[in-house]
Amino acid sequence: MSDKISVLLSEDEVAKKLDDLASVINRDYEGKCIHLVGILKGSVFFSCELAKRLTIPVTMDFMSVSSYGNSTKSSGVVKIIKDLDEPLQDRDVLIVEDIVDTGRTLSYLMKVLKDRRPASMRLCCMLDKPERRITDVKADYVCFNIPDEFVVGFGLDYAQKYRNLPYIGVLQPEETE
Ligand code: IMP
Ligand code: MG
Repeated sequence: MSDKISVLLSEDEVAKKLDDLASVINRDYEGKCIHLVGILKGSVFFSCELAKRLTIPVTMDFMSVSSYGNSTKSSGVVKIIKDLDEPLQDRDVLIVEDIVDTGRTLSYLMKVLKDRRPASMRLCCMLDKPERRITDVKADYVCFNIPDEFVVGFGLDYAQKYRNLPYIGVLQPEETE
């Protein structure tokens, strides 16, 4: 049976927001080199689309942490699956994440990365579900606040599927008879 997905944010809406976000970041980091740290795999599309729009000098690195497995619920267990290739010390780091939900993943991750003594560290998220937060994580840059629904596309997956959708859609819960 195929999953039903309804469009929440179109490709155009996301692109426009990315343009706006990039101009704010270009201004905020003027005269600096920004080190983008993308959290795999969800933030790959967002990181690359954002990086393409930045006119300041950019370096990029990626790391992978486990969060949900193949379910739509957070397990609360965060594990580093792939660490960064380069040190963060003295760099102006911008963590790029697909979505902040409970905030558990980032709460853990930001502590770990702060210990590596970057010159500065900020958080940039494509989506935020503020109602779901159970930690004090707050993003410095957010593209869209969304309601408490499970979304896919633009990097976000359900059981590793739908990351390639060019828009962000709500995955409809399966109907039960
Ligand atoms: P948190 O630790 O609860 O904030 O969860 C963060 C991670 O869970 C994100 O980086 C996503 O990988 C995943 N996640 C949270 N909500 C969604 C969603 O609606 N769709 C797809 N993945 C999600
Ligand atoms: Mg993620």
